[in-house]
Amino acid sequence: MSSETLIIQAGLSERPRKSRWPARLDVLQSLSGLFLALFMWGHMFFVASILLGKDAMWTITKFFEGYYFFDKSHHWLVSLVVAFVAAVFIVHAAMAVRKFPINFRQLSVYRAHAKSMRHGDTTLWIWQVYTGFAMFFMASAHLYQMMVWPQNIGPYGSSDRMWSDGLWPFYLVLLLAVELHGGIGLYRLAVKWCWPNAPRQFLKKLKWGITAFFLILGFATLGAYMKIGYEHRLEYGTPYVPTWMQQNAAQNAVQHAVEEGVK
Ligand code: HEM
Repeated sequence: MSSETLIIQAGLSERPRKSRWPARLDVLQSLSGLFLALFMWGHMFFVASILLGKDAMWTITKFFEGYYFFDKSHHWLVSLVVAFVAAVFIVHAAMAVRKFPINFRQLSVYRAHAKSMRHGDTTLWIWQVYTGFAMFFMASAHLYQMMVWPQNIGPYGSSDRMWSDGLWPFYLVLLLAVELHGGIGLYRLAVKWCWPNAPRQFLKKLKWGITAFFLILGFATLGAYMKIGYEHRLEYGTPYVPTWMQQNAAQNAVQHAVEEGVK
């Protein structure tokens, strides 16, 4: 093929053609976003179990490790769940990146457009972009850590990470990004797919209510891990032993001592 023909054909792919793919990819983006938002609600409650005490968080952690089904912890079960969530996260990010402003010109056009429209929902959209961009890096790092070292999840393991490993500022930023992103995302899903004539003012209030709830829960949870991590700093790296196991061990020790005394 001559270079002249190549140059002539270069623009052909940009001819407008009817295709269902953009719509299909949009549905995929929405479904993966819905899954991740609902997953995050569950995640926030599981992680917040530390507010009920170290034993509560230990119990939840062991549940996900299959301890109550196999009488033994299988950390790879957690890795498997994380790998699945990470896969959905990658699909969601890949679908979302199609809509990012890709150069300064596009961003300037968007900004001018948003300024002239003064429409709240248009402004919310750019926050989706900023927080989504932050999560590309932060959520990936978090997911990688959870997938590769699931054995370090637990009342002391997680608290040591927050305090002694100094990751609490990372979690603070990730928390803000994920809650803003998830709240706005669910609101946009409701307006886009479920509710054509949605009462937007009501939905917005609901959205901010849910975001505020999860942020308060998240800050309290973060504070709890930091406090435990601080108290545990001198025994960094030692795993938590639940109260009932400590009591059993103490009882066994007393029994052993009594039996030794009788002999
Ligand atoms: C199955 C996948 C996941 C698992 C097993 C998991 C596990 C955990 C655990 C155990 C903690 C406590 C701190 C620690 O141990 O480091 C935590 C905190 C956190 N995770 Fe995840 N996570 C997962 C996915 C995600 C995703 C996809 C996001 C966001 C995009 C996320 C955002 C956060 C945030 C913001 C915190 C801090 C929570 C707070 O301060 O209340 N996690 N996660």
